[in-house]
Amino acid sequence: MPSKNGSVDPEIDATAQGADLTYGARHVAIIMDGNGRWAKRKHLPRSLGHKKGVEAVRNIVRAAGEVGIEVLTLYAFSSENWSRPAEEVTDLMGLLRQYIQSDIDEFDENGIRLKIIGNYKALDRDIVDLIDNALERTAGNERMTLAIALNYGAQDEILRAVQTIAMAVKNGEVEPDQINISHMSGALDTAGLPPLDLLIRTSGELRLSNFLLWQAAYSELYFTETLWPDFDKQELLRALESFGSRDRRFGGR
Ligand code: FPP
Repeated sequence: MPSKNGSVDPEIDATAQGADLTYGARHVAIIMDGNGRWAKRKHLPRSLGHKKGVEAVRNIVRAAGEVGIEVLTLYAFSSENWSRPAEEVTDLMGLLRQYIQSDIDEFDENGIRLKIIGNYKALDRDIVDLIDNALERTAGNERMTLAIALNYGAQDEILRAVQTIAMAVKNGEVEPDQINISHMSGALDTAGLPPLDLLIRTSGELRLSNFLLWQAAYSELYFTETLWPDFDKQELLRALESFGSRDRRFGGR
């Protein structure tokens, strides 16, 4: 769709032509890295990097809904992040509290269902209550699921799943040699979500950092040098486009 000066916005153009900007990616996850470096480069305190990181979260949640991603999973606080200085942990918890309080109405307006992965019950009581309310309030929303990883570690998630299955064995519900992939998938925090298609990490680090280790078995990986606070809709579209160019064989030929 050419504008008055004749230029074409590729996104508007593609949407006008009915293109699927997700390239079939139903479930996208992001390791949001680089808030600290973003702040450092600008000679700002780390706390401002995280604050700006929340703005990026807000933008990307909106953008994901607009392009039609079904599930967006964000790594907000890992089970290892507790080892950061207490002040930074308090800062991150404060931002989380604020984010849920201020954006819950928008989740509802935009048909966003909130989900939490990780052991969030170990967070401060008021945050747990806030989350439980938000989970209940948005449970019926169907346009997109926003899964936030809080106090999450994939090894811990897998261990908890194994414990659930071990209990089922103990109760005589399943024989050990009958345990299969579906039992495991169904016992993980991500149970019921579509398979993870695309895993994005910002800031140039080439690691999974204990995120979605089971779920990433056949995901496409996308790494960008962009620091999380600078990650915007255009970047998300680029990652999806890259996903669209991959030849996914799932171990076949
Ligand atoms: C990495 O930056 C990012 C995090 C520790 C978590 C991401 C948190 C946010 C975006 C804000 C809170 C989120 C929500 C959903 C309200 P880093 O500090 O590791 O950056 P660095 O590696 O450059 O130091």
